[in-house]
Amino acid sequence: MESFKLILIKTIMNRKDGTAKVTGTATYGAEHQIADLVHGYLITANIASGEIANINTEAALKSPGVIKIITHENRPTIVKPTNNFMASKIYEARLPLSDNQIHYGGQIIGLVVAETFEQARHAAHLVEVDYQSQIPTIDAEKALFTEAPPMFGEDMTFEKGDFQTGDLSDAMDQAAVNIIATYKTATELHASMEPHAIIAHWEGENSLTVYEPSQWVVGSQQTYAELFGLSKEQVRIITPFIGGGFGSKAFPWPHGILCVAVARELQRPLKVVLSRRQMTANAGHRSQTEQTISIGANNDGKLLAIDHVAKSVTSPVDVFTEPCTGITPAMYKADNLRTRQELAVMNVGTPTFMRAPGENPGLWALESAMDELAWALDMDPVELRLKNQTHEHQRKGLPFSAKAFAECLQVGAEQFGWFQEPRQVRSMSHDGKQIGWGMAASTFPALRGMATVTVRLLADGSAEVLTSANDMGTGCYTIVAGTASEILQLPVERIRVKIGDSLLPNGGMAGGSQMTATLVPVVMGACKAVLEKAQVTTATEALEYLKQSGQEAIEGTASSSPGEEGQQWAFQSWGAHFCEVSVDEEIARLRVNRWLSVMNVGRIMNPKTAASQVRGGVIMGIGHALMENCDFDPNFGLPTVYDLATYDYATHADIPRIEVIFVGEPDYNFNPAGVRGLGEIGITGVSAAIANAIYHAIGKRIRQLPITPDKLI
Ligand code: MOS
Repeated sequence: MESFKLILIKTIMNRKDGTAKVTGTATYGAEHQIADLVHGYLITANIASGEIANINTEAALKSPGVIKIITHENRPTIVKPTNNFMASKIYEARLPLSDNQIHYGGQIIGLVVAETFEQARHAAHLVEVDYQSQIPTIDAEKALFTEAPPMFGEDMTFEKGDFQTGDLSDAMDQAAVNIIATYKTATELHASMEPHAIIAHWEGENSLTVYEPSQWVVGSQQTYAELFGLSKEQVRIITPFIGGGFGSKAFPWPHGILCVAVARELQRPLKVVLSRRQMTANAGHRSQTEQTISIGANNDGKLLAIDHVAKSVTSPVDVFTEPCTGITPAMYKADNLRTRQELAVMNVGTPTFMRAPGENPGLWALESAMDELAWALDMDPVELRLKNQTHEHQRKGLPFSAKAFAECLQVGAEQFGWFQEPRQVRSMSHDGKQIGWGMAASTFPALRGMATVTVRLLADGSAEVLTSANDMGTGCYTIVAGTASEILQLPVERIRVKIGDSLLPNGGMAGGSQMTATLVPVVMGACKAVLEKAQVTTATEALEYLKQSGQEAIEGTASSSPGEEGQQWAFQSWGAHFCEVSVDEEIARLRVNRWLSVMNVGRIMNPKTAASQVRGGVIMGIGHALMENCDFDPNFGLPTVYDLATYDYATHADIPRIEVIFVGEPDYNFNPAGVRGLGEIGITGVSAAIANAIYHAIGKRIRQLPITPDKLI
């Protein structure tokens, strides 16, 4: 182990927001208490394609407590926003209630407002809708796939479009071994614990406060401002706590836009909470995917060619491509490479970013194919990956900064005992069950955004850190406090972190695993600015200065954004998962018995919350591998899952103890703190590691997720 420099690290901090969360004092979006509040309940479509011929609200309007019913016939004024990542962004390009068209099952077709939630829900069920129904397109086998358009407009193609280098067919011909296989994943839901919910509170026509879980407070502020013709300063977004987002709470959804619009008309605070069934269609999902991978290699395992073609599905009302192939040019060295994305429109809700969008299904396919290649070559899969590492990002043409992928593989193999295992299928059993070991690589790009942070050191010996960032369970409160504590040399209990409010300085977005790398360097800078003002090096000395000068507080502000470093380096995090499964073939029962994840993510700010993020990723990955699937009724096109019981995901009983080890060094090329972020990397590669272990256990290669018992027989 001496040969590996583990980053160990700082003091272990408990979650700053932990007590508030477990004692129920943390206030989530819909829990804010606003006087004179009324309740909205959505009316949703019972067909998946067609149009509304007639909508009759007469009976519903007479129902007790009903204040107003909004449909496409009396839709309030909403302005189409810029809708791109730089300014403002809505999840679904079609504005709610635009017309009488139905594009997917469960689509919002109206909103009932009443004095109580129960009155609104009851009245919503009294609304009579006549549809002109068409046969929906629900089956991807029958859908028309064409080349995927650039996702964020022509000028904003980030490096996830198609790519080609070398001569693919030539290289495939020359290869001694070819693997060609197709891998599928199912439609998946974010399934956050906190449902989507919003309270819109207008004071007059020009002052709006929104209580809504938002992964991007200042983005939501700008977006709602554009939607309602306001200036940014006239909108305030408050979101101190988020009960999970995973990519589905970054921008306004149609229900949020509708809630704000109707609240303005009524001039009363309005709350809309989605039911779990409504969330299935109206709060995003990860598209199903079908990916074909072709790999050509020499007999010694050296890769000559990788071809990765991915298909995903979008809704009729927006374009979202699940960017499965984005990761392929970063992963393994091959002089002949091609990636291609295809997209089809189906009558399903609008898909969106879901934890490691692209990377997660992408690595499911690529890391399964690498395992198939290892078996075909009779080569150890760890060796195969070590042999084909790339020191540069083959699309960007830039070297990776602080890459320790080899250490992830080597430390993982050593700690797991990987090389003790016989590389033969059906070679291990216990208690009548077949045992298998599997491994796969893990990766996620390192992103960083712009942020401003203000730190105030108060005469009472405490300090405040102010920034509009947020914590969706990731540990942001904790690491921000820990960073301030380290620089100011003040106990962490004396640091108050105020985030999740757009009145605070712009803290950037909690998305793309970038919040830590965005904020930590700026928190450091703001703390240093405080100390510099007092011309001291610790908070204790600064407090002395405060006492002498009679001031109440010293305030320091810092801002930072990515610089030129992205022209020089490719920033990427790395990892490897190792796992053991057992398969009881008599009853087709699979258990995941043991898990080890080794991660190279730059400097670790707090080992406890960092390991917890990786564990959360692995748990979500186990769900993705074995359970999660949002099916659609083939006749009616409506989702057949509608709550947390019908949408299966991993519970405690399904997961083993998950060991997490961090390797590598701080990435100082990336930012002065050397941190890269780790919200998403944990999930990537998990499903492939499991399928690879199943192959080892029972000699069956499974290429379709989720691996439910029927696929094991
Ligand atoms: Mo994440 S899918 O960028 O919230």
